[in-house]
Amino acid sequence: MTSGVEPRSAFKPATGSDPRVLGNARRLLDVLWKTGTEFLGCELAILGGAMTWVSERNLVAAISNGGGFGVIACGAMTPLQLEAEIIATRALTTRPFGVNLIIMHPDLAALIDVCTRQKVGHIVLAGGLPNAMTLTRIKESGAKAICFAPALVIAKKLVRMGADAIVIEGMEAGGHIGPVSTSVLAQEILPALRDEVPVFVAGGIGRGEAMASYLEMGAAGVQLGTRFVCAHESIAHPRFKQAFLRADARHAVPSVQLDPRFPVIPVRALANDGTHAFLEMQRGVIDRFMRSEVSREDGQLEIERFWAGALRRAVIDGDVEGGSVMAGQSVGFVTREQSTRAILDELVDEAVMALSLRARVAFGEPPPLDLAR
Ligand SMILES: Cc1cc2nc3c(=O)[nH]c(=O)nc-3n(C[C@H](O)[C@H](O)[C@H](O)COP(=O)(O)O)c2cc1C
Repeated sequence: MTSGVEPRSAFKPATGSDPRVLGNARRLLDVLWKTGTEFLGCELAILGGAMTWVSERNLVAAISNGGGFGVIACGAMTPLQLEAEIIATRALTTRPFGVNLIIMHPDLAALIDVCTRQKVGHIVLAGGLPNAMTLTRIKESGAKAICFAPALVIAKKLVRMGADAIVIEGMEAGGHIGPVSTSVLAQEILPALRDEVPVFVAGGIGRGEAMASYLEMGAAGVQLGTRFVCAHESIAHPRFKQAFLRADARHAVPSVQLDPRFPVIPVRALANDGTHAFLEMQRGVIDRFMRSEVSREDGQLEIERFWAGALRRAVIDGDVEGGSVMAGQSVGFVTREQSTRAILDELVDEAVMALSLRARVAFGEPPPLDLAR
């Protein structure tokens, strides 16, 4: 477990690469994500997407110590637990980190009070659209408010309401998802908002090349969740990590809704016995509803309660068959357990390699021979 900050060593070029070009590409990366690094106050504009039960003190501190920006997930925490977690995280890192609050949390106001008392610098609001009062309270506390926007019209509204930054998250992501892919959201929202507020892109980012391409489109930075689950510092159960290491992109599927009368909030997770049981349960509810044995309201409640506690069972208890193994399509890029620092370094190195060609041109160097012809 990394308890302190290690200096980032100079970029090590891949064999055969021109170190001068790679040095310029590294500088180009710093230029591209400058808005993001300045906004977050860290070296790399890579947010560790908050993951309930996974993003606690150890992983959050490791991401921040590695130069990224860790975010505590407090979806399953009481205000007291959040306060203890913030204090414990500060014992492991002196670097900035944020807190993720779920808007429909019953204690949202008290959780904001804790963040205010603890002088949290950045609050990420997830799970819906915040009202003006929530945003005002956060901003009055001195914290920056980062909001999720699933469409351009909502992003613009959030900026008008005072959101300091936006996260756009495509349906490739793990956990609760919207209907639109990351690449389409990026094309829709980045050109319209990139000059107004920092926009961070999330969902399906597994390698540095993809990170670089979103930065080139105007993103201030990126947010990754799935890639960090198997970090050494992640407390996820060994069976949860094993399930990630075995899975490919096609195994991370959205939950299926059988009947529009019984809506299901889509969640992307690894298919398992629970996925099939959920379908059977929905089928049973629909049959009983058709026979007038259950009301629509009660049937809906049964459906909503099915996954209650299921993420904890998978992450903490290791029940990867019955629990909810939330994972994004980038799970295919999780091939081994690594330190958080190694994951961040890999992402940066891949981005630098991808940018090296552009760096030649940007820094006035002659393009490679085959392009000059
Ligand atoms: C296991 C798991 C739990 C998650 N829990 C939350 C959460 O509590 N709050 C939240 O805003 N996002 C949550 N997410 C989404 C991540 O914060 C992040 O945005 C997402 O993982 C990014 O996409 P990726 O999975 O393709 O990297 C979760 C994702 C995973 C995989």
